[in-house]
Amino acid sequence: MLREVTGIRYVTPLREGGSVPGVVEADDLGTYVVKFSGAAQGRKALVAEVIAGELGRRLGLRVPELVRFDFDPVIGLGEPDQEIQDLLKASGGLNLGMDFLPGSLGFDPLVFTVDPAEASRIVWFDALIGNVDRSWRNPNMLVWHRDLWLIDHGASLIWHHNWRSAESATARPYDASDHALSRFDPEPAAVAGELGALVTEDLLAGVTGLVPDEWLVDEPGFDTPDDVRRAYARILGARAQDVHLRITTAPGRREKQPPPEWLRPWVEGHADKKSGGAE
Ligand SMILES: Nc1ncnc2c1ncn2[C@@H]1O[C@H](COP(=O)(O)OP(=O)(O)OP(=O)(O)O)[C@@H](O)[C@H]1O
Ligand SMILES: [Mg+2]
Repeated sequence: MLREVTGIRYVTPLREGGSVPGVVEADDLGTYVVKFSGAAQGRKALVAEVIAGELGRRLGLRVPELVRFDFDPVIGLGEPDQEIQDLLKASGGLNLGMDFLPGSLGFDPLVFTVDPAEASRIVWFDALIGNVDRSWRNPNMLVWHRDLWLIDHGASLIWHHNWRSAESATARPYDASDHALSRFDPEPAAVAGELGALVTEDLLAGVTGLVPDEWLVDEPGFDTPDDVRRAYARILGARAQDVHLRITTAPGRREKQPPPEWLRPWVEGHADKKSGGAE
């Protein structure tokens, strides 16, 4: 089971997030980003956060700790924004907390450099979970103590919104051409053997076992929360076998492109100078 903490002080809303998560202090003296159960994204976004986040962690990627977060709306009564107040009121009880990384910066592909091996592992993982929320426009990665941390997996596992066609998700293609890490030359096929071998039945049972029953009960088409867990595990297990064959990456950056027309006189003049040519 995920560790459980109880909120003691609502600090501030994170308005840049579509679901308006909150920064909340807890009784273990930790500070957490809380994804609220009453948000419009619904409980499946929380299920996706747990399954994808814990899967990523077991593949050796950095994901801040996830906890069961018990929230009493009374501690948010000082929040003046009515819409946020409504969100807090609708979220009494169990929510999802993620360890808050103080002083972290949003990842910017033009500012930070990522080692191609790490980029490859992250792209393979995103393909496995069908994550469309890691584009250069919205990278959902933080840089903290010079390391890259993955956040916001709530929109992954999109196939769980329609279980009837979910089995076909194992073969769904993944377009990584505008992935935030595509400029670092990821080669997901190069890490597929190593990572695919880690995604065992045991690992998937462990990961899906961390999802609270409360977010799986009464799922149409399933008798018990464990039946839903097995469906997630079956699809991810099958997809992990050959997902690297389904990834489209951006055309190789290594191929040298000719300079644009407007830059050519300068580039050519510069080359002339270097080779001692006439000015
Ligand atoms: N663990 C964390 N530590 C520090 N800051 C965080 C953490 N998690 C999220 N944030 C900040 O809060 C913002 C919103 O978080 P997140 O992207 O998870 O929310 P969301 O509502 O799912 O957003 P989106 O609009 O991308 O769907 C992030 O962009 C980041 O700036
Ligand atoms: Mg986000």
